[in-house]
Amino acid sequence: MSTKTNEPGRGAIDINDMGVVFNARGTMVEAVSSVDLKVRPGEFVSLIGPSGCGKSTLLNIVAGFVEPTSGSVLVDGKTIRGPSSDRGVVFQQYSLFPWLSVRKNVEFGLKMKGVAASQRETQARTLLGLAGLLAFENHYPDQLSGGMKQRVGIVRALATSPQVLLMDEPFGALDAQTRTVMQEILTNMWQQFRISVLFVTHDIEESIFLSDRIYVMTARPGRIKAEITVPLPRPRTPEMTYTPEFIALVQQLKGLIREESLAAMGSELKEGGLSGFGVEVGPKGVGEMV
Ligand SMILES: Nc1ncnc2c1ncn2[C@@H]1O[C@H](COP(=O)(O)OP(=O)(O)O)[C@@H](O)[C@H]1O
Ligand SMILES: [Mg+2]
Repeated sequence: MSTKTNEPGRGAIDINDMGVVFNARGTMVEAVSSVDLKVRPGEFVSLIGPSGCGKSTLLNIVAGFVEPTSGSVLVDGKTIRGPSSDRGVVFQQYSLFPWLSVRKNVEFGLKMKGVAASQRETQARTLLGLAGLLAFENHYPDQLSGGMKQRVGIVRALATSPQVLLMDEPFGALDAQTRTVMQEILTNMWQQFRISVLFVTHDIEESIFLSDRIYVMTARPGRIKAEITVPLPRPRTPEMTYTPEFIALVQQLKGLIREESLAAMGSELKEGGLSGFGVEVGPKGVGEMV
């Protein structure tokens, strides 16, 4: 049953010297370059970096939607060959099926795996109960708030008992208050499942609150700029966000990301031809403008 703790030693992600080049209508775009990244079994790891640095690309590679151009990407020692129910995915946009009820949405992956109807229902109801959504099992997605939709999305991704959960800015569309509640729900669920999570965000506080480790990416082409271990104990509580340790980590990450955001904006501004107006667009010049 899906609520059991994960088998020890599974759910390892191993990315070695990976590069991705897209061919965008004849123009080669280097999205990600020489990335080395590891997620240990049961670990919660975040990937943070400026917009366009290749975070979604990296996650889509682990999900099996995109193939790397160079390097290797292994999950539990095996090269990824397309998507699999071993790897659950949650996106920012709610990707629930609008014509299916909440429970049928959660059951969908199990149905694809050939699980019998009665067993599907039991598993879906157990998981919905854990996420506080059992009362809504017969509702349809358009009857739910954004936070509830995303909780259903997480439950649906967990239903097939994946070893790895991949999340791409899953709370990005939610208001700040709902977002912090969702972060707590996610850490609580993760502690029960001990599943490996690779979580993409550009929210610094969110990455610290949730993670065991954080990888900071550079501006495009995305490389790993820093790897930061979060020494806060578990379970995480909202009060921890006021501690000196938490605040020091926020400052450290802000510094690292600001450099990269400025670098990313600098190249965008150059591409936009601002230099033609006599504006200095080195990172320093932009820094003075914002
Ligand atoms: N399918 C694609 N074809 C061409 N370029 C792409 C494709 N997907 C992403 N890119 C480019 O790769 C870079 C990284 O994109 P993405 O991974 O979405 O960044 P992030 O998620 O960090 O904002 C961007 O410059 C983007 O335009
Ligand atoms: Mg993205």
